[in-house]
Amino acid sequence: MRDQVLTGRTAGEYRRQVAEAIDRVATRVAAVGRPFSGVSPDELAPEISRIDLDAPLGGVSAALDELEDIYLRDAVYFHHPRYLAHLNCPVVIPALVGEAIAAAVNSSLDTWDQSAGATLIERRLIDWTAARIGFGPAADGVFTSGGSQSNLQALLLAREVAHATGGSATEPEILPRSRILSSSDGHFSVAKSAKVLGLGTDAVIAVGTDHQRRMRAAELARELEGCRRAGRPVLAVVATAGTTDFGAIDPLPEIADLCAAAGVWLHVDAAYGCGLLVSPTRRDLLAGIERADSVTVDYHKSFLQPVSSSALVVRDGATLGHATFHADYLNPERMAERRIPNQVDKSLQTTRRFDALKLWLTLRVMGAGALGALFDAVLDLAAEAHALLVRDRRFEVVARARLSTLVFRYLPPEGPARHLADDANLHAREALAASGEAVVAGTKVDGRHYLKFTLLNPATSVEDIACVLDLIAGHAGRYVEEKTASSPLPE
Ligand SMILES: Cc1ncc(COP(=O)(O)O)c(C=O)c1O
Repeated sequence: MRDQVLTGRTAGEYRRQVAEAIDRVATRVAAVGRPFSGVSPDELAPEISRIDLDAPLGGVSAALDELEDIYLRDAVYFHHPRYLAHLNCPVVIPALVGEAIAAAVNSSLDTWDQSAGATLIERRLIDWTAARIGFGPAADGVFTSGGSQSNLQALLLAREVAHATGGSATEPEILPRSRILSSSDGHFSVAKSAKVLGLGTDAVIAVGTDHQRRMRAAELARELEGCRRAGRPVLAVVATAGTTDFGAIDPLPEIADLCAAAGVWLHVDAAYGCGLLVSPTRRDLLAGIERADSVTVDYHKSFLQPVSSSALVVRDGATLGHATFHADYLNPERMAERRIPNQVDKSLQTTRRFDALKLWLTLRVMGAGALGALFDAVLDLAAEAHALLVRDRRFEVVARARLSTLVFRYLPPEGPARHLADDANLHAREALAASGEAVVAGTKVDGRHYLKFTLLNPATSVEDIACVLDLIAGHAGRYVEEKTASSPLPE
Protein backbone atom coordinates (compact mmCIF):
# COMPACT_ATOMS: atom_id res chain seq x y z
CA MET A 1 0.00 0.00 0.00
CA ARG A 2 2.81 2.41 0.86
CA ASP A 3 4.08 2.16 -2.71
CA GLN A 4 0.68 3.17 -3.98
CA VAL A 5 0.27 6.30 -1.96
CA LEU A 6 3.58 8.08 -1.39
CA THR A 7 4.72 10.13 -4.37
CA GLY A 8 8.41 9.47 -3.84
CA ARG A 9 8.15 5.68 -3.59
CA THR A 10 7.29 4.77 -7.16
CA ALA A 11 7.12 7.25 -9.97
CA GLY A 12 5.15 4.67 -11.92
CA GLU A 13 2.23 4.57 -9.49
CA TYR A 14 2.14 8.33 -9.24
CA ARG A 15 2.04 8.64 -13.03
CA ARG A 16 -0.60 5.96 -13.42
CA GLN A 17 -2.98 7.29 -10.81
CA VAL A 18 -2.73 10.95 -11.73
CA ALA A 19 -2.91 10.13 -15.44
CA GLU A 20 -6.09 8.14 -14.87
CA ALA A 21 -7.65 11.02 -12.97
CA ILE A 22 -6.62 13.57 -15.60
CA ASP A 23 -7.91 11.32 -18.35
CA ARG A 24 -11.32 11.05 -16.70
CA VAL A 25 -11.61 14.76 -15.93
CA ALA A 26 -10.46 15.74 -19.42
CA THR A 27 -13.10 13.44 -20.93
CA ARG A 28 -15.76 14.70 -18.56
CA VAL A 29 -14.93 18.39 -19.07
CA ALA A 30 -15.00 17.98 -22.85
CA ALA A 31 -18.34 16.17 -22.73
CA VAL A 32 -20.19 18.54 -20.38
CA GLY A 33 -23.39 19.48 -22.19
CA ARG A 34 -24.78 21.90 -19.66
CA PRO A 35 -23.22 23.87 -16.81
CA PHE A 36 -25.09 22.03 -14.07
CA SER A 37 -27.05 18.84 -13.64
CA GLY A 38 -29.70 20.63 -11.59
CA VAL A 39 -29.27 18.24 -8.68
CA SER A 40 -30.75 19.39 -5.38
CA PRO A 41 -29.02 19.12 -1.98
CA ASP A 42 -31.72 16.65 -0.89
CA GLU A 43 -30.98 14.36 -3.81
CA LEU A 44 -27.21 14.42 -3.43
CA ALA A 45 -26.78 14.42 0.34
CA PRO A 46 -27.88 10.79 0.90
CA GLU A 47 -25.42 9.55 -1.72
CA ILE A 48 -22.55 11.17 0.15
CA SER A 49 -23.85 10.18 3.58
CA ARG A 50 -24.07 6.51 2.70
CA ILE A 51 -20.35 6.25 1.97
CA ASP A 52 -18.44 4.44 4.72
CA LEU A 53 -15.28 6.47 5.18
CA ASP A 54 -13.80 3.65 7.26
CA ALA A 55 -14.08 1.19 4.38
CA PRO A 56 -11.55 2.30 1.73
CA LEU A 57 -11.97 1.11 -1.82
CA GLY A 58 -8.29 0.21 -2.10
CA GLY A 59 -7.63 1.61 -5.55
CA VAL A 60 -7.86 4.85 -7.44
CA SER A 61 -10.11 3.49 -10.23
CA ALA A 62 -12.84 2.49 -7.80
CA ALA A 63 -12.55 5.78 -5.90
CA LEU A 64 -12.80 7.73 -9.14
CA ASP A 65 -15.85 5.70 -10.19
CA GLU A 66 -17.46 6.68 -6.92
CA LEU A 67 -16.42 10.30 -7.37
CA GLU A 68 -18.18 10.41 -10.73
CA ASP A 69 -21.44 9.80 -8.91
CA ILE A 70 -20.99 12.11 -5.97
CA TYR A 71 -19.14 15.03 -7.55
CA LEU A 72 -18.11 15.07 -11.20
CA ARG A 73 -21.56 14.22 -12.56
CA ASP A 74 -23.22 17.10 -10.70
CA ALA A 75 -20.45 19.68 -10.40
CA VAL A 76 -21.10 23.24 -11.56
CA TYR A 77 -18.87 23.67 -14.61
CA PHE A 78 -17.57 27.20 -15.01
CA HIS A 79 -16.04 26.50 -18.41
CA HIS A 80 -19.46 25.90 -19.93
CA PRO A 81 -20.46 28.92 -22.06
CA ARG A 82 -23.85 29.18 -20.34
CA TYR A 83 -22.43 29.40 -16.82
CA LEU A 84 -23.04 33.14 -16.37
CA ALA A 85 -23.46 33.48 -12.62
CA HIS A 86 -20.68 34.53 -10.28
CA LEU A 87 -17.11 35.76 -10.58
CA ASN A 88 -15.82 32.29 -11.43
CA CYS A 89 -13.66 31.78 -14.46
CA PRO A 90 -12.77 28.92 -16.76
CA VAL A 91 -9.10 28.10 -16.21
CA VAL A 92 -6.22 28.16 -18.66
CA ILE A 93 -4.34 24.90 -19.16
CA PRO A 94 -0.82 26.12 -18.23
CA ALA A 95 -2.25 27.05 -14.83
CA LEU A 96 -3.50 23.49 -14.40
CA VAL A 97 0.01 22.24 -15.08
CA GLY A 98 1.22 24.58 -12.35
CA GLU A 99 -1.48 23.31 -10.01
CA ALA A 100 -0.41 19.71 -10.54
CA ILE A 101 3.26 20.47 -9.95
CA ALA A 102 2.60 22.65 -6.89
CA ALA A 103 0.49 19.92 -5.31
CA ALA A 104 3.03 17.19 -6.01
CA VAL A 105 6.10 19.04 -4.75
CA ASN A 106 4.00 20.58 -1.97
CA SER A 107 6.27 23.53 -1.20
CA SER A 108 5.09 25.72 1.62
CA LEU A 109 5.65 29.40 1.07
CA ASP A 110 6.08 30.39 4.68
CA THR A 111 9.85 30.08 4.87
CA TRP A 112 12.74 29.83 2.47
CA ASP A 113 13.75 26.51 4.00
CA GLN A 114 10.38 25.06 2.91
CA SER A 115 10.21 26.57 -0.53
CA ALA A 116 13.48 27.97 -1.93
CA GLY A 117 12.88 28.77 -5.62
CA ALA A 118 9.15 29.00 -5.04
CA THR A 119 9.74 32.01 -2.79
CA LEU A 120 11.70 33.77 -5.51
CA ILE A 121 9.10 32.96 -8.16
CA GLU A 122 6.36 34.42 -5.98
CA ARG A 123 8.47 37.50 -5.35
CA ARG A 124 9.08 38.02 -9.07
CA LEU A 125 5.34 37.83 -9.73
CA ILE A 126 4.60 40.37 -7.01
CA ASP A 127 7.22 42.70 -8.52
CA TRP A 128 5.71 42.12 -11.96
CA THR A 129 2.21 42.91 -10.70
CA ALA A 130 3.44 45.98 -8.81
CA ALA A 131 5.09 47.26 -12.00
CA ARG A 132 1.84 46.72 -13.94
CA ILE A 133 0.01 48.73 -11.27
CA GLY A 134 2.60 51.46 -11.68
CA PHE A 135 4.11 51.27 -8.20
CA GLY A 136 7.76 52.21 -7.65
CA PRO A 137 10.70 50.12 -6.42
CA ALA A 138 9.58 50.25 -2.74
CA ALA A 139 6.48 48.20 -3.54
CA ASP A 140 5.99 44.70 -2.25
CA GLY A 141 3.21 42.24 -1.52
CA VAL A 142 2.27 38.66 -0.95
CA PHE A 143 0.00 36.02 -2.42
CA THR A 144 -3.18 35.36 -0.43
CA SER A 145 -6.08 32.94 -0.47
CA GLY A 146 -8.43 35.39 -2.17
CA GLY A 147 -9.80 38.89 -2.40
CA SER A 148 -11.41 38.76 1.03
CA GLN A 149 -8.10 37.96 2.68
CA SER A 150 -6.28 40.57 0.61
CA ASN A 151 -8.82 43.18 1.69
CA LEU A 152 -8.52 42.11 5.32
CA GLN A 153 -4.76 42.39 5.28
CA ALA A 154 -4.88 45.76 3.51
CA LEU A 155 -7.21 47.13 6.17
CA LEU A 156 -5.06 45.67 8.93
CA LEU A 157 -2.06 47.54 7.54
CA ALA A 158 -4.17 50.69 7.14
CA ARG A 159 -5.33 50.46 10.74
CA GLU A 160 -1.81 49.98 12.03
CA VAL A 161 -0.38 52.80 9.94
CA ALA A 162 -3.20 55.14 11.00
CA HIS A 163 -2.63 54.33 14.65
CA ALA A 164 1.14 54.60 14.37
CA THR A 165 0.78 58.10 12.93
CA GLY A 166 -2.42 59.15 14.66
CA GLY A 167 -1.13 60.69 17.87
CA SER A 168 -1.42 59.81 21.50
CA ALA A 169 -4.82 58.10 21.94
CA THR A 170 -4.51 54.44 22.75
CA GLU A 171 -5.95 51.76 20.51
CA PRO A 172 -9.01 50.75 22.58
CA GLU A 173 -10.14 54.37 22.61
CA ILE A 174 -9.62 54.86 18.89
CA LEU A 175 -11.12 51.65 17.52
CA PRO A 176 -14.82 52.26 18.24
CA ARG A 177 -14.54 55.73 16.68
CA SER A 178 -12.55 54.66 13.61
CA ARG A 179 -14.19 54.57 10.20
CA ILE A 180 -13.61 53.02 6.79
CA LEU A 181 -15.22 54.63 3.76
CA SER A 182 -16.32 52.50 0.83
CA SER A 183 -18.98 52.84 -1.84
CA SER A 184 -22.41 51.39 -1.12
CA ASP A 185 -21.53 48.78 -3.80
CA GLY A 186 -18.23 47.79 -2.13
CA HIS A 187 -17.60 44.13 -1.36
CA PHE A 188 -18.95 42.74 1.91
CA SER A 189 -15.48 41.56 2.91
CA VAL A 190 -14.80 45.20 3.85
CA ALA A 191 -17.46 45.05 6.56
CA LYS A 192 -16.30 41.60 7.65
CA SER A 193 -12.73 42.86 7.89
CA ALA A 194 -13.87 45.80 10.01
CA LYS A 195 -15.41 43.33 12.43
CA VAL A 196 -12.30 41.14 12.55
CA LEU A 197 -10.18 44.22 13.14
CA GLY A 198 -12.21 45.15 16.19
CA LEU A 199 -14.02 48.14 14.73
CA GLY A 200 -17.60 49.00 15.65
CA THR A 201 -20.60 47.69 13.74
CA ASP A 202 -21.11 51.14 12.18
CA ALA A 203 -17.46 51.46 11.20
CA VAL A 204 -17.98 51.19 7.44
CA ILE A 205 -19.59 54.28 5.96
CA ALA A 206 -21.29 53.56 2.63
CA VAL A 207 -20.65 56.38 0.20
CA GLY A 208 -23.36 56.79 -2.44
CA THR A 209 -22.91 56.03 -6.14
CA ASP A 210 -23.78 57.87 -9.35
CA HIS A 211 -25.87 56.67 -12.32
CA GLN A 212 -22.96 54.47 -13.43
CA ARG A 213 -22.79 52.99 -9.93
CA ARG A 214 -19.41 54.67 -9.26
CA MET A 215 -18.60 56.16 -5.89
CA ARG A 216 -19.54 59.86 -5.80
CA ALA A 217 -16.29 61.70 -5.09
CA ALA A 218 -18.15 64.78 -3.81
CA GLU A 219 -20.00 62.64 -1.28
CA LEU A 220 -16.73 61.02 -0.22
CA ALA A 221 -15.30 64.51 0.35
CA ARG A 222 -18.28 65.37 2.56
CA GLU A 223 -17.93 62.15 4.57
CA LEU A 224 -14.20 62.71 5.07
CA GLU A 225 -14.89 66.22 6.30
CA GLY A 226 -17.71 64.96 8.55
CA CYS A 227 -15.40 62.40 10.14
CA ARG A 228 -12.70 65.02 10.64
CA ARG A 229 -15.13 67.35 12.39
CA ALA A 230 -16.54 64.58 14.54
CA GLY A 231 -13.05 63.44 15.58
CA ARG A 232 -13.47 60.05 13.93
CA PRO A 233 -10.21 58.74 12.48
CA VAL A 234 -10.64 57.41 8.94
CA LEU A 235 -8.46 54.34 8.65
CA ALA A 236 -8.92 53.86 4.93
CA VAL A 237 -10.94 54.66 1.88
CA VAL A 238 -11.70 51.54 -0.13
CA ALA A 239 -12.22 52.28 -3.81
CA THR A 240 -13.44 49.40 -5.94
CA ALA A 241 -12.10 48.77 -9.42
CA GLY A 242 -14.82 46.45 -10.61
CA THR A 243 -17.75 46.21 -8.20
CA THR A 244 -19.19 42.74 -7.76
CA ASP A 245 -22.65 43.59 -9.05
CA PHE A 246 -22.03 46.26 -11.64
CA GLY A 247 -18.34 46.03 -12.55
CA ALA A 248 -18.17 49.75 -11.84
CA ILE A 249 -14.79 51.38 -11.43
CA ASP A 250 -14.79 54.14 -8.84
CA PRO A 251 -13.18 57.44 -9.97
CA LEU A 252 -9.68 56.58 -8.80
CA PRO A 253 -7.89 59.89 -9.57
CA GLU A 254 -10.46 62.00 -7.70
CA ILE A 255 -10.51 59.57 -4.79
CA ALA A 256 -6.70 59.52 -4.69
CA ASP A 257 -6.67 63.35 -4.55
CA LEU A 258 -9.08 63.33 -1.60
CA CYS A 259 -7.10 60.66 0.24
CA ALA A 260 -3.85 62.53 -0.33
CA ALA A 261 -5.37 65.77 0.98
CA ALA A 262 -6.80 64.04 4.06
CA GLY A 263 -3.73 61.86 4.67
CA VAL A 264 -5.85 58.71 4.48
CA TRP A 265 -4.80 55.25 3.26
CA LEU A 266 -6.29 54.41 -0.14
CA HIS A 267 -7.00 50.76 -0.78
CA VAL A 268 -8.14 49.77 -4.25
CA ASP A 269 -10.08 46.53 -4.38
CA ALA A 270 -9.30 45.42 -7.92
CA ALA A 271 -10.24 41.79 -7.24
CA TYR A 272 -12.38 41.82 -10.37
CA GLY A 273 -10.97 44.64 -12.49
CA CYS A 274 -7.34 43.53 -12.17
CA GLY A 275 -7.58 41.84 -15.59
CA LEU A 276 -7.34 45.36 -17.04
CA LEU A 277 -3.70 45.39 -15.89
CA VAL A 278 -2.92 43.11 -18.86
CA SER A 279 -5.59 44.36 -21.27
CA PRO A 280 -4.05 45.47 -24.57
CA THR A 281 -6.84 48.02 -25.12
CA ARG A 282 -8.36 49.11 -21.80
CA ARG A 283 -5.56 49.59 -19.28
CA ASP A 284 -6.55 53.28 -19.08
CA LEU A 285 -9.71 52.34 -17.17
CA LEU A 286 -7.46 51.75 -14.14
CA ALA A 287 -5.78 55.17 -14.35
CA GLY A 288 -5.06 56.36 -10.83
CA ILE A 289 -4.57 52.90 -9.34
CA GLU A 290 -0.84 53.66 -9.09
CA ARG A 291 -1.69 56.23 -6.40
CA ALA A 292 -3.15 53.59 -4.05
CA ASP A 293 -1.42 52.50 -0.87
CA SER A 294 -2.60 48.93 -1.38
CA VAL A 295 -4.28 46.94 -4.13
CA THR A 296 -6.17 43.64 -4.11
CA VAL A 297 -5.61 41.55 -7.22
CA ASP A 298 -7.56 38.32 -7.76
CA TYR A 299 -5.83 36.30 -10.44
CA HIS A 300 -8.53 33.67 -9.87
CA LYS A 301 -11.10 36.00 -11.41
CA SER A 302 -9.97 37.90 -14.49
CA PHE A 303 -6.59 36.18 -15.00
CA LEU A 304 -8.33 32.82 -15.60
CA GLN A 305 -6.46 31.06 -12.78
CA PRO A 306 -7.77 28.22 -10.63
CA VAL A 307 -8.79 29.07 -7.07
CA SER A 308 -6.83 30.13 -5.03
CA SER A 309 -4.72 32.80 -6.61
CA SER A 310 -4.79 36.33 -5.25
CA ALA A 311 -2.38 38.94 -4.01
CA LEU A 312 -2.16 42.02 -1.87
CA VAL A 313 0.29 44.53 -3.32
CA VAL A 314 1.39 47.59 -1.36
CA ARG A 315 3.10 50.77 -2.51
CA ASP A 316 5.51 50.75 0.44
CA GLY A 317 6.76 47.28 1.31
CA ALA A 318 7.79 48.45 4.79
CA THR A 319 4.11 48.61 5.78
CA LEU A 320 3.93 44.81 5.49
CA GLY A 321 5.99 44.81 8.68
CA HIS A 322 2.72 45.30 10.55
CA ALA A 323 1.96 41.66 9.73
CA THR A 324 5.35 40.40 10.89
CA PHE A 325 5.70 38.10 13.88
CA HIS A 326 8.77 36.04 14.70
CA ALA A 327 8.84 32.52 16.12
CA ASP A 328 11.99 30.67 17.17
CA TYR A 329 10.71 27.49 15.53
CA LEU A 330 10.07 29.11 12.16
CA ASN A 331 11.41 32.55 11.31
CA PRO A 332 13.59 33.86 14.15
CA GLU A 333 14.58 37.49 13.94
CA ARG A 334 18.16 36.64 13.11
CA MET A 335 16.93 35.27 9.79
CA ALA A 336 15.44 38.65 8.92
CA GLU A 337 18.74 40.28 9.89
CA ARG A 338 20.51 37.90 7.49
CA ARG A 339 17.90 38.85 4.84
CA ILE A 340 16.70 35.28 4.43
CA PRO A 341 13.52 35.65 2.38
CA ASN A 342 10.77 34.24 4.56
CA GLN A 343 7.42 35.11 3.02
CA VAL A 344 5.64 34.37 6.32
CA ASP A 345 7.06 37.69 7.51
CA LYS A 346 4.58 39.38 5.15
CA SER A 347 1.61 37.04 5.35
CA LEU A 348 -1.36 36.40 7.62
CA GLN A 349 -1.08 32.72 6.74
CA THR A 350 1.64 30.34 7.86
CA THR A 351 1.64 27.16 5.76
CA ARG A 352 0.74 28.45 2.33
CA ARG A 353 0.32 26.92 -1.12
CA PHE A 354 2.61 27.74 -4.01
CA ASP A 355 -0.28 29.34 -5.89
CA ALA A 356 2.08 31.65 -7.73
CA LEU A 357 3.32 28.75 -9.88
CA LYS A 358 0.05 28.71 -11.82
CA LEU A 359 0.39 32.32 -12.87
CA TRP A 360 4.09 31.84 -13.55
CA LEU A 361 3.49 29.03 -16.02
CA THR A 362 0.60 30.95 -17.58
CA LEU A 363 2.86 33.91 -18.26
CA ARG A 364 5.71 31.70 -19.47
CA VAL A 365 3.50 29.68 -21.83
CA MET A 366 0.93 32.23 -23.04
CA GLY A 367 2.16 35.62 -21.96
CA ALA A 368 0.32 38.54 -20.39
CA GLY A 369 -0.90 39.89 -23.73
CA ALA A 370 -2.77 36.69 -24.53
CA LEU A 371 -4.42 36.72 -21.10
CA GLY A 372 -5.40 40.35 -21.51
CA ALA A 373 -6.80 39.66 -24.98
CA LEU A 374 -9.06 36.99 -23.49
CA PHE A 375 -10.34 39.46 -20.89
CA ASP A 376 -10.85 42.02 -23.66
CA ALA A 377 -12.92 39.48 -25.57
CA VAL A 378 -15.13 39.05 -22.52
CA LEU A 379 -15.56 42.82 -22.19
CA ASP A 380 -16.47 43.09 -25.89
CA LEU A 381 -19.02 40.34 -25.38
CA ALA A 382 -20.48 42.19 -22.38
CA ALA A 383 -20.94 45.31 -24.52
CA GLU A 384 -22.75 43.27 -27.19
CA ALA A 385 -24.88 41.53 -24.57
CA HIS A 386 -25.79 44.89 -23.08
CA ALA A 387 -26.92 46.15 -26.49
CA LEU A 388 -28.96 42.98 -26.94
CA LEU A 389 -30.68 43.46 -23.59
CA VAL A 390 -31.42 47.14 -24.19
CA ARG A 391 -33.18 46.23 -27.46
CA ASP A 392 -35.16 43.41 -25.85
CA ARG A 393 -38.47 44.76 -24.56
CA ARG A 394 -38.99 41.73 -22.32
CA PHE A 395 -36.22 43.02 -20.03
CA GLU A 396 -35.07 46.09 -18.16
CA VAL A 397 -31.32 46.69 -17.64
CA VAL A 398 -29.86 48.65 -14.73
CA ALA A 399 -26.54 50.15 -15.82
CA ARG A 400 -24.19 49.97 -18.78
CA ALA A 401 -21.57 47.29 -18.34
CA ARG A 402 -18.15 48.82 -17.65
CA LEU A 403 -16.58 45.41 -17.13
CA SER A 404 -18.57 42.24 -17.71
CA THR A 405 -21.62 42.13 -15.44
CA LEU A 406 -25.18 42.78 -16.58
CA VAL A 407 -27.94 43.38 -14.04
CA PHE A 408 -31.40 43.13 -15.54
CA ARG A 409 -34.86 41.75 -14.90
CA TYR A 410 -37.74 40.26 -16.76
CA LEU A 411 -40.66 42.67 -16.93
CA PRO A 412 -44.12 41.10 -16.96
CA PRO A 413 -46.51 42.77 -19.39
CA GLU A 414 -47.67 46.27 -18.51
CA GLY A 415 -50.71 46.20 -16.18
CA PRO A 416 -51.61 44.32 -13.03
CA ALA A 417 -49.20 41.44 -13.76
CA ARG A 418 -46.29 43.87 -13.24
CA HIS A 419 -46.39 43.37 -9.52
CA LEU A 420 -45.29 39.76 -10.11
CA ALA A 421 -41.90 40.96 -11.40
CA ASP A 422 -39.93 40.08 -8.25
CA ASP A 423 -41.36 36.59 -7.91
CA ALA A 424 -41.13 35.91 -11.63
CA ASN A 425 -37.41 36.72 -11.67
CA LEU A 426 -36.72 34.69 -8.53
CA HIS A 427 -38.62 31.81 -10.05
CA ALA A 428 -36.84 32.07 -13.40
CA ARG A 429 -33.43 31.90 -11.76
CA GLU A 430 -34.31 28.81 -9.76
CA ALA A 431 -36.07 27.07 -12.61
CA LEU A 432 -33.12 27.71 -14.89
CA ALA A 433 -30.64 26.26 -12.39
CA ALA A 434 -32.88 23.25 -11.79
CA SER A 435 -32.99 22.60 -15.54
CA GLY A 436 -29.21 22.86 -15.64
CA GLU A 437 -29.43 24.63 -19.02
CA ALA A 438 -27.77 27.75 -17.68
CA VAL A 439 -26.74 29.25 -14.36
CA VAL A 440 -27.26 32.96 -13.66
CA ALA A 441 -26.92 35.02 -10.50
CA GLY A 442 -29.33 37.31 -8.72
CA THR A 443 -29.10 40.48 -6.70
CA LYS A 444 -31.30 43.24 -5.34
CA VAL A 445 -31.41 46.82 -6.59
CA ASP A 446 -33.47 49.36 -4.63
CA GLY A 447 -35.17 46.47 -2.87
CA ARG A 448 -36.27 44.72 -6.11
CA HIS A 449 -35.06 41.34 -7.33
CA TYR A 450 -32.86 41.37 -10.40
CA LEU A 451 -30.92 38.78 -12.36
CA LYS A 452 -27.25 39.06 -13.10
CA PHE A 453 -24.86 37.77 -15.73
CA THR A 454 -21.20 37.79 -14.78
CA LEU A 455 -19.26 37.09 -17.94
CA LEU A 456 -15.73 35.73 -17.56
CA ASN A 457 -15.68 33.03 -20.19
CA PRO A 458 -14.21 34.03 -23.54
CA ALA A 459 -15.97 30.98 -25.03
CA THR A 460 -19.44 32.41 -24.34
CA SER A 461 -21.02 33.89 -27.46
CA VAL A 462 -23.79 36.41 -28.06
CA GLU A 463 -25.87 33.47 -29.27
CA ASP A 464 -25.41 31.83 -25.84
CA ILE A 465 -26.61 35.03 -24.19
CA ALA A 466 -29.62 35.28 -26.50
CA CYS A 467 -30.47 31.66 -25.80
CA VAL A 468 -30.30 32.18 -22.01
CA LEU A 469 -32.48 35.30 -22.26
CA ASP A 470 -35.10 33.25 -24.11
CA LEU A 471 -34.93 30.57 -21.43
CA ILE A 472 -35.37 33.17 -18.68
CA ALA A 473 -38.26 34.85 -20.46
CA GLY A 474 -39.84 31.42 -20.94
CA HIS A 475 -39.64 30.48 -17.26
CA ALA A 476 -40.70 33.91 -16.03
CA GLY A 477 -43.48 34.27 -18.60
CA ARG A 478 -44.95 30.86 -17.77
CA TYR A 479 -44.83 31.74 -14.08
CA VAL A 480 -46.76 34.95 -14.68
CA GLU A 481 -49.31 33.14 -16.86
CA GLU A 482 -49.87 30.43 -14.25
CA LYS A 483 -50.26 32.94 -11.45
CA THR A 484 -52.64 35.16 -13.34
CA ALA A 485 -54.67 32.14 -14.51
CA SER A 486 -54.97 30.66 -11.01
CA SER A 487 -55.91 33.94 -9.33
CA PRO A 488 -57.05 36.57 -11.82
CA LEU A 489 -55.51 39.89 -11.01
CA PRO A 490 -57.56 42.98 -10.19
CA GLU A 491 -57.86 45.35 -13.15
C1 LIG B 1 -14.87 43.38 -5.63
C2 LIG B 1 -14.57 42.11 -4.88
N1 LIG B 1 -13.71 42.14 -3.86
C3 LIG B 1 -13.40 41.06 -3.15
C4 LIG B 1 -13.98 39.84 -3.44
C5 LIG B 1 -13.66 38.64 -2.60
O1 LIG B 1 -12.83 37.78 -3.30
P1 LIG B 1 -12.69 36.25 -2.84
O2 LIG B 1 -14.00 35.61 -3.18
O3 LIG B 1 -11.55 35.78 -3.66
O4 LIG B 1 -12.41 36.24 -1.38
C6 LIG B 1 -14.88 39.74 -4.50
C7 LIG B 1 -15.51 38.47 -4.82
O5 LIG B 1 -16.32 38.34 -5.69
C8 LIG B 1 -15.20 40.91 -5.24
O6 LIG B 1 -16.07 40.89 -6.24
